[in-house]
Amino acid sequence: MERSLYDRLGGVDAITAVVRAVVDRQMKDDRISQKFARTNVDRVIKEFVDLICQVTGGPCTYTGRNMTETHHDMGVTSGEWDAFVEDVVAVLNDFKVGKAEQDELLNMLAPMRPEIVEVESPQVETPLPSAFIAAPPL
Ligand code: HEM
Repeated sequence: MERSLYDRLGGVDAITAVVRAVVDRQMKDDRISQKFARTNVDRVIKEFVDLICQVTGGPCTYTGRNMTETHHDMGVTSGEWDAFVEDVVAVLNDFKVGKAEQDELLNMLAPMRPEIVEVESPQVETPLPSAFIAAPPL
């Protein structure tokens, strides 16, 4: 039987290192950084690790909010979605994650797109709407 994607990525420690680098990169990426203006970074890292761990077959349970609720009223455009995914791929390359594992992970994230993208537009660098209420620290 093939090992789970979780195991092939290197388990929770490797996933945590990747997620930290992804969030760090996204917060410095002018195309999407404004969306994180009011975000509690420790929370987002913890929740993102749990989600990736769970969907790749690891021993974690995601207890964060669902993707629609989390990203509702954030005004994420399709261009910003693409920028987000590009940042993920850049970090996976930095961590020397193989192409097969990268493709598998991206295929797990792709179905979440309709729950996250609210504006079908190539525009990037759009502001976080003032009405958006960020989640509190855990
Ligand atoms: C497959 C793609 C994505 C996944 C799996 C994902 C996952 C998550 C998770 C698990 C959280 C934390 C939920 C919680 O705190 O309960 C979160 C929050 C957040 N996400 Fe995403 N996300 C994705 C795409 C995006 C995109 C494209 C953007 C913007 C360009 C974005 C911006 C944010 C921001 C700003 C927060 C923090 C919200 C807050 O402070 O309340 N995400 N995301």
